Amino acid sequence: YLIGCDVGTTGTKTLLVDEQGHVLARSLDEYPLLAPRPGWAEQEADDWYRATVQGIRKVVAEAGIRPQDVAGISFSGQMHGSVFLDREGRVIRRPLLWCDVRTADEVRAINETVGRARMIDLAGSPAMEGFTAPKVLWLRRHEPGHFERIATVLLPKDYVRFRLTGERAAEVSDAAGSAMFDIEKGEWSKELLDVVGLRPEQLPPVLRSVDVAGKLTARAAEETGLVPGIPVVAGGADNACGAVGAGVVRSGRAHVSIGSSGVVVSFAPVPSRDPGGRVHTFNHAVPGAWYVMGVMLAAGLSLRWVRDELGQAERAVQEATGIDAYELLTREASRSPAGARGLWFLPYLNGERTPHADPYARGVWFGLSSAHRRADLIRAVLEGVAFGLRDSLEVLQEMGVEVSQLRAIGGGGKSALWRQIQADVLGIPLARLNVDEGPAYGAALIAGAGVGVWSDVAEAADAVVKVNETIEPDPQRSATYEASYRIFRELYRVLRPVFE
Ligand code: XUL
Repeated sequence: YLIGCDVGTTGTKTLLVDEQGHVLARSLDEYPLLAPRPGWAEQEADDWYRATVQGIRKVVAEAGIRPQDVAGISFSGQMHGSVFLDREGRVIRRPLLWCDVRTADEVRAINETVGRARMIDLAGSPAMEGFTAPKVLWLRRHEPGHFERIATVLLPKDYVRFRLTGERAAEVSDAAGSAMFDIEKGEWSKELLDVVGLRPEQLPPVLRSVDVAGKLTARAAEETGLVPGIPVVAGGADNACGAVGAGVVRSGRAHVSIGSSGVVVSFAPVPSRDPGGRVHTFNHAVPGAWYVMGVMLAAGLSLRWVRDELGQAERAVQEATGIDAYELLTREASRSPAGARGLWFLPYLNGERTPHADPYARGVWFGLSSAHRRADLIRAVLEGVAFGLRDSLEVLQEMGVEVSQLRAIGGGGKSALWRQIQADVLGIPLARLNVDEGPAYGAALIAGAGVGVWSDVAEAADAVVKVNETIEPDPQRSATYEASYRIFRELYRVLRPVFE
C-alpha cells in the first residue's frame, strides 16, 4: 500500500491507496490559517506535522491494513512557504505562506536587482509576493535576529518529511517555486541566493520527486503507528502533484484546479517562459519535464469567504442535517441565471498573480442594484473565479500552448454548477476523471513510482487515471459570458489606479 499526503492550506489530506491505484481510505485534518495583520498569512509548522501524523493513523485504521504493509509514503504540499530552521532543526518563526502578500517591497528589490527578464529566464517567473525568496529578504530586513539563526530554509512539505526522516532535503518541483532556483539547470542559483543573502549551504540538497529522501525514523514510526524504515519519497509541489494525479504527465495535456488557489496548468516538455512574466514555468514532478501555470490567489478561498462571512444559514443547516454548506450555497446560486443578472465579482481578496501581479488588487462586487438577490451575489462569485481562470488560459494560449480540453480537479470541480460555469466561461470541454482526489493522489502515485510499484510517474498516472465524462460548453451561455468577460477585464483596468 501507498500513502500520499497533501500538506495543504486548509489541512492535510491523507490517502491510502493500493498498488492498483484504488483509494481505500482518506482523511482531512484541518489546521488554522493565521493572519496576524491584513495581508499576512502564516501557519504553525508543527500543525502540519501533527495533522499528517493523525491522518496517517486514521487512514491505516480505516482501511484495516497492517502497518508493515505500507510500502512507501510521499508528499504534496502548498508551495512557496518559508520554513526557517536553526541548527538543531527547530523552527525559528512561524512560516509565511504562499498567500501572504507582505513582501511587495522585497519583490520590487529582487526584480530590480536581478532584472525582470533575467529573473524570468532563471526562475521561470519574476519574483512575486508569495514566493520564498522575498520572504527570506523580508526576514533579513525586519527580523534580522531570526535571519541570522537560519541553518536551513525548507518548503512546507519538505519540513514534514524532515520530521519523519530526520533528513533535510528539497526536490525540484517545490524548489522551483522558491525564486532561488535555476529551473533549466535544476539546481539552486548562486546568483539568486546572493540577492537575498543566503549561502548555498543554507539550502538542502535537491532531489528528483521520485527519489527516496530517507526512511521513517523510530520516533516517527511510533507517532504515525507505522514501522521504522519505510521509504519516504521526496514528492512534489501541490500543483505538480495535482498534475500527476490528473494524468497531466505528457505533452498536450492540461488541467484546471480550484483549491484555495485556482490554477490552469499545462505540461511542458521544454521550459517555455512567458516574456511578460504573467505565468510561472516550474519543474514538474515528472523527471526532465516542466509545466506552465497561471495562478489566481483566491479561487476556492473566495467561496470559503462567502460561506464563512455570509453563509450563516447554510452553516446552520449543515450543522443540523450534515448537508455540506458549499453544496447549499451553489444550490442557491443556481437560482440566478448566467451573468448573475448583471453582477460581477472580482476575486482579488488577496491581490492577484495571473495576469496582474498586483498585491494591491481587492475584491469587488460591481453592478449591485436593489433588484439583486443573495443568489446573484453567490453566482457572481462562482463566475468571477471562472473569469479569473480564463485570464490564465488566455495567457497560455497566447504563448502558443494549445489547450483543447482541460481536466478538472479540486474542490471547485465537485459542484456540477461550478463545473458547467467553468466550461461555459472557458469555452472548452472540461473532463472529469475516474479519480477526483487531487494532489494527495499524485503524491501516492509518486510514492509508488519511487518504490518501484510503477516504472515512473508518467506510467503510474497513465495506468490509473482515466477520463470518465466530458462537460461541453453551452453555446448560448458561452456567448453571454463572452460579453461579461470583456467587462470583467475592463473593470480591473479601470480600478487599478484606485487599488494602489
Ligand atoms: C502556486 C501557489 C498555490 C499554492 C497553493 O504558485 O501559490 O497554488 O501552491 O497551495
